[in-house]
Amino acid sequence: MENRIKVLIVFGTRPEAIKMAPVIKQFELNKDKFDTIVCVTAQHREMLDQVLNLFDIKPQYDLGLMTNNQSLHDLTSKVLLGITEVIEQEKPDLVLVQGDTTTTFVSALAAYYLKIPVAHIEAGLRTQNKYSPFPEEINRRITSHIADFHFAPTSEAKKNLLNEGIPESSIFVTGNTVIDALKWVVNKQKGESKKWNNYFLSKYNISFSTTIRTVLVTGHRRESFGQGFKNICIAIKQLAENDSNIQIIYPVHLNPNVQKPVYSILNNIRNVYLIQPLDYEPFVFLMNKSYLILTDSGGIQEEAPSLGKPVLVMRDTTERPEGIKAGTAKLVGTDSKTIVSETEKLLYDKVEYEKMARAINPYGDGNSARKILKFIKVINI
Ligand code: UD1
Ligand code: UDP
Repeated sequence: MENRIKVLIVFGTRPEAIKMAPVIKQFELNKDKFDTIVCVTAQHREMLDQVLNLFDIKPQYDLGLMTNNQSLHDLTSKVLLGITEVIEQEKPDLVLVQGDTTTTFVSALAAYYLKIPVAHIEAGLRTQNKYSPFPEEINRRITSHIADFHFAPTSEAKKNLLNEGIPESSIFVTGNTVIDALKWVVNKQKGESKKWNNYFLSKYNISFSTTIRTVLVTGHRRESFGQGFKNICIAIKQLAENDSNIQIIYPVHLNPNVQKPVYSILNNIRNVYLIQPLDYEPFVFLMNKSYLILTDSGGIQEEAPSLGKPVLVMRDTTERPEGIKAGTAKLVGTDSKTIVSETEKLLYDKVEYEKMARAINPYGDGNSARKILKFIKVINI
């Protein structure tokens, strides 16, 4: 057990946790080579904890940083000070971060200030628009220019890094670990259909039948706060009123800037179910039960193609062009009329629907975490 490489794994939000979990499992299988320390900033609380529970991750450090309606400035400074203390105490050989959140870029920055090498999972996603998604586009760019090792999910992402002068020898194409997590849950749920149907019925009075089609909605992007969210809600209301044979299920993100417009515009509509954010397992079951998905989420754009579910992306840009190119995802923006017409096209035009409802795997085959470990074993830290 001598000369093990000490890796500090840092994350803070729901999507980072889902995508980091398979990597943590791989490190556990390689304890002879790595000493891993897990630190959560808890930029998210409830939405993070459900993932820690599901994957049985017990962080050595929990900074407990979330506050209600936190500002970017406040969160950024707290993460910087909190992570710096952990790095100073642990003196890791490598800091591992994932994605594009405040936790991601600030942890990379803290490591850089202490001259500790950084590896970045899900590197190279770009829209080339610094305000969309906001602030994730800049978080990613900063992280890339700090990081020493880059795990790019696709060759497109690798190209983006090369275009910014990142040395090719430091980039490894691995697929996205979200597919590892998704496959693990889908396998776990085999034969559990009754259990999860009961879960939705008893908890939310939601049932899934062949005559009522389910439209799943999620949304949380900062650049859509205000008018964008109002437009999204108006579209959902219109869709629900136009067709009583659909049910719209919307697990509402806990950000107050999302909760407020959603509950004020969509409360008390018979076929719209506003529910709390779902734990990852029931959420995967719900994605599988859905006819189509309306979302602005990054992770769901990656998961839905592999489940064969059409995704309408309620954003003006995406850093995940692979699903669009493959034809299973479509950018529809946040204009109410466009959202309604594009959704109804999928609901009532079988040919349009079949064109999009194909299972494809642009984001990997479920072995990304294993590939990441393989590369970490050979890099010169
Ligand atoms: C954050 C990330 C975003 C990521 C998203 C995933 C930043 C700036 N944003 O956005 O990139 O796509 O997470 O969901 O890094 N809240 C709770 N409980 C929770 C989580 C959030 O109450 O478990 C509420 C709190 O009031 C909190 C607010 O949501 O202050 C905002 O959380 P924050 O992490 O700053 O932003 P998100 O919109 O969640
Ligand atoms: N997700 C979840 N419960 C929900 C909504 C989403 O577990 O109620 C999962 C989803 O399957 C995906 C991840 O959370 O893996 C995406 O998180 P989010 O949309 O918050 O963040 P983004 O991916 O946009 O950064």
